[in-house]
Parts: sequence; C-alpha cells; structure tokens
Amino acid sequence: MNIIAISGSLRKGSYNTALLRAAKKYSSDEMNISIFDISTLPLYNQDAEMILPTSVQTLKDAVKLSDGVIIATPEFNRSIPSVLKNALDWGSRPFGKNSFVDKSVLVLGASIGQIGTAVAQQHLKQILLFLDMKVFGQPEFYLSNAAQKFDENGDLIDEETIKFLTKMLTVLESKITHSLK
Ligand SMILES: Cc1cc2nc3c(=O)[nH]c(=O)nc-3n(C[C@H](O)[C@H](O)[C@H](O)COP(=O)(O)O)c2cc1C
Repeated sequence: MNIIAISGSLRKGSYNTALLRAAKKYSSDEMNISIFDISTLPLYNQDAEMILPTSVQTLKDAVKLSDGVIIATPEFNRSIPSVLKNALDWGSRPFGKNSFVDKSVLVLGASIGQIGTAVAQQHLKQILLFLDMKVFGQPEFYLSNAAQKFDENGDLIDEETIKFLTKMLTVLESKITHSLK
C-alpha cells in the first residue's frame, strides 16, 4: 500500500520529519511510505485555483493515488504550523475536489516540550474530520522531549518510542486493509 507522509515542519533538523523517516524505517514491507515535501507549495491563493500550481497538483495527485496518509505535526503556539494548514487547504481545493476525502490518516507529533503536540493534534484532527478523512481516535501518539529521543543524525533512538511508533503503523495498516475490503 502507498502512503504519503507529510511533515508540518520545513526545518532541516526537524524532529517531525525525522519521525517520518523512522516510520519509513519501521513500517512493514506492505507499506511504501513517501515523504512529500510541502516547502514547494505556494501560499494558498484562491486566484490560483483556476490553473493549479504544479506543486499543488503534484500534492493532490500523490494524495489521490495513496491508500493512506501520515501527518507528523509540530505544535506552534498551541496549534498546527501554518505551512501544514497551507498544504491541507490546497489539497482540499477547488471546492468539490478535496483530494483527502476518505483517506485513512495517522496523526503523529513531536515536540521539545512536555505535552508532545497534544493541543496541535486536537486542532489537526478537527480539520481532518472536516476534510472527511478517516481519523482514528485511539491509539494516540504524542512524542514529548523530542531532543532526547533522536541522535545527532536524526535517528530515533528511544526504544519505547520505536515500539509504539511500530504499533501505530500496524494500526494504520490494518485500518487501510479493512477499508480496502
Ligand atoms: C513559533 C513556534 C511556536 C511554538 N509553540 C510551541 C507550542 O505551543 N508547544 C510546544 O510544545 N512547542 C512549541 N514550540 C517548540 C517546538 O516544539 C519545537 O520548535 C519543535 O522542535 C518543532 O518541531 P520540528 O523539530 O519538527 O521543527 C514552538 C516553536 C516555534 C518556532
């Protein structure tokens, strides 16, 4: 199954992007996870909807062709980063052509703080539900104190987190398998 993974951070050393790399590493052979770079998307502008910018069309096609989506979000000021909202807004447009409809979505998040993106994920899930995505309520994945969970190369080194991430991926895989039946 093809999975498109989106990081809500554009930062080179992003823990959230590192988490997606770890998801790629620890996913089963059934899952083909590709990380989509949202930094190429322009700022959303309804005037540009008539002829969609190439990067937007590429995002929409990748989502459409995927069997599921993984989003790893940082928490910015107790919400999601604007770059992630921008990607979701583009993918949902033009009206009636929301590419995210019916896609199973796994929400992850890493923060250097204590509450591991809990508030940002709450906002994000609200948006994803409105986009008619298949969001699951349990289990939840909040990675707090991220700076201690990755090494200097951005590899996830915390064994418990690796175990839990692997479980989350299994849940996504089984949700997709059921929805494809
Ligand atoms: C503008 C801004 C707002 C932030 N707000 C929060 C916040 O509300 N909660 C939190 O836990 N961390 C917050 N942080 C810290 C982020 O958790 C931290 O920068 C994290 O590393 C971002 O994710 P990344 O490593 O994937 O880029 C904020 C960081 C920035 C730049």
